[in-house]
Amino acid sequence: MFRQAAYDEPLIRDMRSGTTYRVPGEHTETPEIPDSLVRKEINIPNVSEYDVVRHFTRLSEMNYSVDTGIYPLGSCTMKFNPKYADVMASWSEFRDVHPLRPQETVQGNLRIMYELQEYLKAISDMDAVSLQPLAGADGEFTGISIIRKYFMDQGTDSERREVIVPDSAHGTNPASAAMAGYDVVEIPSTPSGTVDLDALKSVTGRNTAAFMITNPNTLGIFDGGIAEIARIIHEAGALLYYDGANFNAILGITSPGLMGFDVVHFNLHKTFATPHGGGGPGAAPVGVKKFLEKYLPTPIVEKNGDFYSFKDVGDKSIGKIGPYYGSFMVLLRAWAYIRYHGRDGLEAISRRAVLNTNYLERRISGSFRPSNNSIKKHEVVVSASGTGKTANDVAKYLLDMGMHPPTIYFPLIVKEAMMIEVTETVSKKDLDAYADAMLASLKEDAKTSASRPVNTKVTRIDEVRAARDLELTWNDIHS
Ligand SMILES: Cc1ncc(COP(=O)(O)O)c(C=O)c1O
Repeated sequence: MFRQAAYDEPLIRDMRSGTTYRVPGEHTETPEIPDSLVRKEINIPNVSEYDVVRHFTRLSEMNYSVDTGIYPLGSCTMKFNPKYADVMASWSEFRDVHPLRPQETVQGNLRIMYELQEYLKAISDMDAVSLQPLAGADGEFTGISIIRKYFMDQGTDSERREVIVPDSAHGTNPASAAMAGYDVVEIPSTPSGTVDLDALKSVTGRNTAAFMITNPNTLGIFDGGIAEIARIIHEAGALLYYDGANFNAILGITSPGLMGFDVVHFNLHKTFATPHGGGGPGAAPVGVKKFLEKYLPTPIVEKNGDFYSFKDVGDKSIGKIGPYYGSFMVLLRAWAYIRYHGRDGLEAISRRAVLNTNYLERRISGSFRPSNNSIKKHEVVVSASGTGKTANDVAKYLLDMGMHPPTIYFPLIVKEAMMIEVTETVSKKDLDAYADAMLASLKEDAKTSASRPVNTKVTRIDEVRAARDLELTWNDIHS
């Protein structure tokens, strides 16, 4: 049931004996490629370097990124990624290290991994951390697999078949639970956007393995009922899973450990300085309370005296969740970011992110109704409903003004939702310009609105046709 990397064997031998390494020439067999898959004819465009450089430069100029302008894509924490971390990741001492190098020759890299484990433990108030998972969804799958392995050990896996999620959950939560073999039970939120405790009580019981939530949630609301939620879940013998995608709101202020969670994943590519988008690159270390440490993916990094080494987690480990040790370059950036800011700096990040969110909400809430009246944390969800425009119209207007729109039509529980996460790295000038543009979008006549965007490379697409009749060819990309 658990994924195992195909190249597990030599690595496990390495960890256990401390002496066996895969060396060039040791694995020289050429895999058999079925004839049907062997390319008979190579059809690569015959172009000069000059053409290729121009092609990719032109494409890069069509791109919009956090380095270009404000990118308040709710739930994605698209904040500016400091360049010192990118510069470090470009150093050959890190970039060119082979993952199977003898451990005594990569002590610096191992030290960084060890220290990052320790920092993440301190930030989350968890007892042990694995750096291996490669994205938020991968962290969720890892965490839920750990929970499943725990219940297998308890002998109650056949009974505890359900994972509960609130209806505000990110789609990866139920998907990860289903991938780990669970039935998913969804519960409604209260009108104020928090967990409906009665609904939670009514579905929690001997069948429950875990409750997965993020706090603050995807509406940007901190659920003050979290202690009661933890009590309900733990009294039923189930475990509490923290989706750490919204960590940007709580750094140094509170933590999943304090809130009563048993397992957490961190989206390093959101909160901790890695460019995020296009499906990667990512890293989502998983933290657990002591009683779950033995189930973590193997290996983790330990320190004995001044020596850093990989430690085999042991027979109870869920195994390997990805090749080698995780996305090292992402881990490195996160380490650098945490060192740069320190404890107080991290707390200041969250306080500023929350301040920026609430400032923007105040600027636009006269026209765009917020999902509810609570103070928002890292993000705010407003509705375009009642403005005379759709969320789509407002988003297309923003594109024409050279700004990235917010996430729209999610979460599904808010009509015409616009989910805005401005982060701490946006200036007041940018916040004001964004608020002004959102408000100005409402003043346009319907015909102009419907024709937007007109300033972008791709104008308004027929979304129904794009979904039903998608056609992507080389020629289309060029035209
Ligand atoms: C609340 C929440 N949970 C989980 C995830 C999944 O993370 P990833 O995209 O790294 O797989 C996201 C991603 O946007 C998210 O916003």
